[in-house]
Amino acid sequence: MHDDLRATPVEDLTPLDAAVELAALAKDIAEHDRRYYQDDAPAVSDADYDALRHRNQVIEERFPELIRADSPSNRVGAAPAQGFSKILHARPMLSLANAFNAEDVTEFLQRIRRFLSLADDEPVVVVAETKIDGLSVSLRYVEGELVSGATRGDGETGEDITRNLKTIAEIPQTIVGAPAVLEVRGEIFMSKEDFAALNAAQEAAGEKVFANPRNAAAGSLRQLDASITARRPLSLFAYATGEVSEEFADSQWGLLDALAGWGFPVNPERRRCADVIEILENYDRIEALRADLPYDIDGMVYKVDRMDWQRRLGQVSRAPRWAIAHKFAAEKAQTVLEKITIQVGRTGTLTPVANLRPVTVGGVVVSRATLHNEDEVARKDVREGDTVIIQRAGDVIPQVVSVIVEKRPRESQAFHMPEVCPECGSSAVREEGE
Ligand code: IVH
Repeated sequence: MHDDLRATPVEDLTPLDAAVELAALAKDIAEHDRRYYQDDAPAVSDADYDALRHRNQVIEERFPELIRADSPSNRVGAAPAQGFSKILHARPMLSLANAFNAEDVTEFLQRIRRFLSLADDEPVVVVAETKIDGLSVSLRYVEGELVSGATRGDGETGEDITRNLKTIAEIPQTIVGAPAVLEVRGEIFMSKEDFAALNAAQEAAGEKVFANPRNAAAGSLRQLDASITARRPLSLFAYATGEVSEEFADSQWGLLDALAGWGFPVNPERRRCADVIEILENYDRIEALRADLPYDIDGMVYKVDRMDWQRRLGQVSRAPRWAIAHKFAAEKAQTVLEKITIQVGRTGTLTPVANLRPVTVGGVVVSRATLHNEDEVARKDVREGDTVIIQRAGDVIPQVVSVIVEKRPRESQAFHMPEVCPECGSSAVREEGE
């Protein structure tokens, strides 16, 4: 019915016709907006959409008393941009299979040997890179110009964040001497230092603080308003390619060199390793360095160096056969402190101990952590029933780092040390200075 009405010249509309048509237009335009901005699947051409908006506006001008609360003209210009448009990756952005221990890494190398039918004495050289804890992006250059940039998305289709990526100083806008079509893939991240400074500024301004550098990088990059991204300190490490119009490297090492030569930041902690021993030595070396690196990493990535082998190995279920991620065990974890018990030492010292809901930290299941002493418990205000963050570094006894106060049960009560020794019943005394 409203199609007929839409054919009627606006001057000929009765107020009732106008009210009916404005209601239909509000509904239809909202639906087109939703399809365009949320689903990225517009049902009409831009011209038809503009015609609908124009008719809505003309009717409203003639019948201003009929302007609806949900009128599309209240949203003019600031179209309700609820998302990014989509970009289909020219080559899928693959993910990586995981290795958690030396055995998994050994099996990875054996699988490669078997697949390529290599002689036992033929070394399989891999490039060991740090696994940057950020967001992967794909940057597309045509004739040396950055033309588009996308998030990984589901690997096939990502979000178009070209405008945001163009604000990042470390990303070259133009490159010289590269293939006519070159897609560079890498990780966008925020350094630990930049993260701390951003959070301090956010807090001072009463704005949202981020939980970790990765969240801060993601929140900064996926801003519909690219001017916000421009003010955030984001960095890039490039480590792979997508579509390329001509091959330019015969090894992963050479590929990284070429990317660096074109001006892309490439992580300096890369090593060529000839066997599993070198791989694991390097893993230990980087894990020991981890806390001192200026950015977060969550493991290592091993890639077969030879490109001809990479091509032969191909991929299996969306992950390349020629690469694997070797994760570092998480050092911190969250769990519930079920009970605080008192441990009596050999010399009679009373130590409060957190009995935890078991959780894996740094590759080990932890169910108890030290609370050190009464002052520590008071300082952190640790209570039974609290959700706590625990930390395990190397071989030291796990510790309770902090309490997530928002998760505290209502009925919780502050903890006090017992007045008598739980073992011998004699009164517990706190000695001077203890
Ligand atoms: S290579 C086909 N190298 O880890 C190979 N990925 O768990 C594709 N990542 O989606 C990835 N550092 O976001 C590669 N040096 C590195 C990496 C790296 C971090 C991320 C990347 C990937 C995820 C897989």
